[in-house]
Amino acid sequence: MSNVTITNHPLIEHKLSILRDVNTNPTIFRQLVSELGALLCYEATRDLPIKPVEVQTPLTTMTAYEMQESIALIPILRAGLGMVEGIWALIPNAHVFHIGFYRNEQTLEPVEYYNKLPKNHPFNTCLILDPMLATGGSAIATTDIIKRWGAKKIKFVGLIGAPEGIRALQEVHPDVDIHLAAIDDHLNEKGYIVPGLGDAGDRQFGTV
Ligand code: URA
Repeated sequence: MSNVTITNHPLIEHKLSILRDVNTNPTIFRQLVSELGALLCYEATRDLPIKPVEVQTPLTTMTAYEMQESIALIPILRAGLGMVEGIWALIPNAHVFHIGFYRNEQTLEPVEYYNKLPKNHPFNTCLILDPMLATGGSAIATTDIIKRWGAKKIKFVGLIGAPEGIRALQEVHPDVDIHLAAIDDHLNEKGYIVPGLGDAGDRQFGTV
């Protein structure tokens, strides 16, 4: 079964509490999604391999270390977009590929509408980005797609998860590790995480 890592650092708790607040405006909300993405990515990439390189400092030469792997960031549209900037600042040579789903409001099932993955898959690690792991439908569908594309090492990075979504992703893709800032109580009948923060896409883009 996959690992679920909850990173409950004071900075994360603080930023998450502002993010949850219904009075937080879209500008601050976007900034916090980006910052939280970066903080969680720091934990999610902790086990990535590094390789030794010779570096000339102003004083001498030494053996330092650089990342060995090529990384693909896969934000799920729309809400995952907000997590890209902060993570890209930490891993500037990562490649970014978007996958888009909308939710069928009757069935709550994800329907794919955008997928621009290139033909070849030269990446060692793929990070799927979506702030809310609610039913798990989009995360499972995205994992299906990128596994067919050739991805082997996949991690899901989100902000808040519902127990139902975590369970669903673990059952279908037990090899995908899950990184979150919090696990909330439950999903409501409309598929929203409770207490949650509302619709992460609407709150980022001011479409509430
Ligand atoms: N997507 C969101 O943006 N919020 C939820 O609570 C659930 C899914």
